[in-house]
Amino acid sequence: MTPMPFTLFLPCAGGVENFLADEVHGLTGLAGEDLLTLRGGVRVRGDWALVLRLNLLSRLAQRVLIELAAAPYRDEHDLYRLASGVAWEDWFTPRQSFRVDLTAQASPLRSLNFATLRVKDAVADRFRQQAGGVRPSIDTHAPDVRVQAHLGAERALLYIDTSGEPLFKRGWRQDKGDAPLKETLAAAMLAACGWWQPAERRVAGVPLYDPCCGSGTIVIEAAQLALGLPAGGQRRFAFERLRPFDAAQWHAIQKEAAAEARVEAPPIQVFGSDVAHRMVDFAQRNAERAGVARAVQLRGGDALQRLPPADRPGVLLMNPPYGERIAAAGVAGQGRGREAFQSGTLARQRHDPRPDADAAEINAGDEFFTRLAAHWKAHYAGWTAWLLSPDPKLPARLRLKETRRVPLWNGPIECRLLRFDLR
Ligand SMILES: C[S@@+](CC[C@H](N)C(=O)[O-])C[C@H]1O[C@@H](n2cnc3c(N)ncnc32)[C@H](O)[C@@H]1O
Repeated sequence: MTPMPFTLFLPCAGGVENFLADEVHGLTGLAGEDLLTLRGGVRVRGDWALVLRLNLLSRLAQRVLIELAAAPYRDEHDLYRLASGVAWEDWFTPRQSFRVDLTAQASPLRSLNFATLRVKDAVADRFRQQAGGVRPSIDTHAPDVRVQAHLGAERALLYIDTSGEPLFKRGWRQDKGDAPLKETLAAAMLAACGWWQPAERRVAGVPLYDPCCGSGTIVIEAAQLALGLPAGGQRRFAFERLRPFDAAQWHAIQKEAAAEARVEAPPIQVFGSDVAHRMVDFAQRNAERAGVARAVQLRGGDALQRLPPADRPGVLLMNPPYGERIAAAGVAGQGRGREAFQSGTLARQRHDPRPDADAAEINAGDEFFTRLAAHWKAHYAGWTAWLLSPDPKLPARLRLKETRRVPLWNGPIECRLLRFDLR
């Protein structure tokens, strides 16, 4: 493949753009016009080798897309023309399957389905003309190749996706638990709280503790960072099926990344615990598959009772139980005669027909947070707690005043990562 520079777009969750720009800068040294922070992602100028490296190493990008065409458009004919002009045959063969995904923001077109169809037709027709009547088939479930179209108010962009499965799928998670965070969001929390400094490719030298760790997403991301392991070391990528793919080049990039890993495990400073022992087992198995079992310590236990796991203050980082269907378990939930609040049970509720059920759940949640804050004040002086939650009343429930507030989107849900300084 020619080393000519491409324009890449790396989409990310809302609120993560600046952290992603820092991460790409740290990984590549790019800056200025070669690394632009946009809404919903960053635009990068780079070659094919960079595409491979970013897929392998980025913890914050959702995908790595290569821009193949961009032009003003007014209707579906313009989209068809734009897509017909792309040399798709340089990227894949008519024996491979593909699908087209389309995103839009303020597009004047009435039917996005029809727009998607026209892009798909243009790709297929181009192959039919170029390859003697043979055209690639469509596969919407497991395509070899994903084409991405984005429609703005006046401009259309066409990309080829080099990632395939979104990058939050690191390849190590088999045990999910009930409400796992996306790995990309866990990494964004680590950057937002400052424990991970992506621009410097460094982690802070203080303990990190998630006392409601669930399946272990936050602690596994943290431990991989501490060990210098690549985010995508255990997965495959769509670029492996694209024509420019060169296995020798890819192996060299993988080898280079592996050489950066720490051979010696650092003294353990990443800790997780959860009241549900089933979740701790999940987290342990996930940690083993992620190659970090030696760098993280996982325990069972109630967040309202566990004492600091380290002998010096550090960072508490968590997404606590929240929402209608998940309530706090452990001592704050005991004695209510409700299955969900019994110690050690995972508090996932089915519909409770009693009229006072929701109020009881909210009160139990309040009690959990009041007791959590009291426990932290008594035992965690000097620690900094960061909690991700969509609940605007969380500081009131904790009866603590936050000292920072970072907006982060969890899919379509607007959350805030709140910082509390424990004295
Ligand atoms: C929203 S989930 C966290 C998900 C986790 N970040 C992950 O990625 O899997 C909240 C977790 O809090 C745990 N939990 C509920 N009450 C608890 C308590 N009193 N002490 C410790 N953990 C608790 C639940 O078992 C659940 O795993």
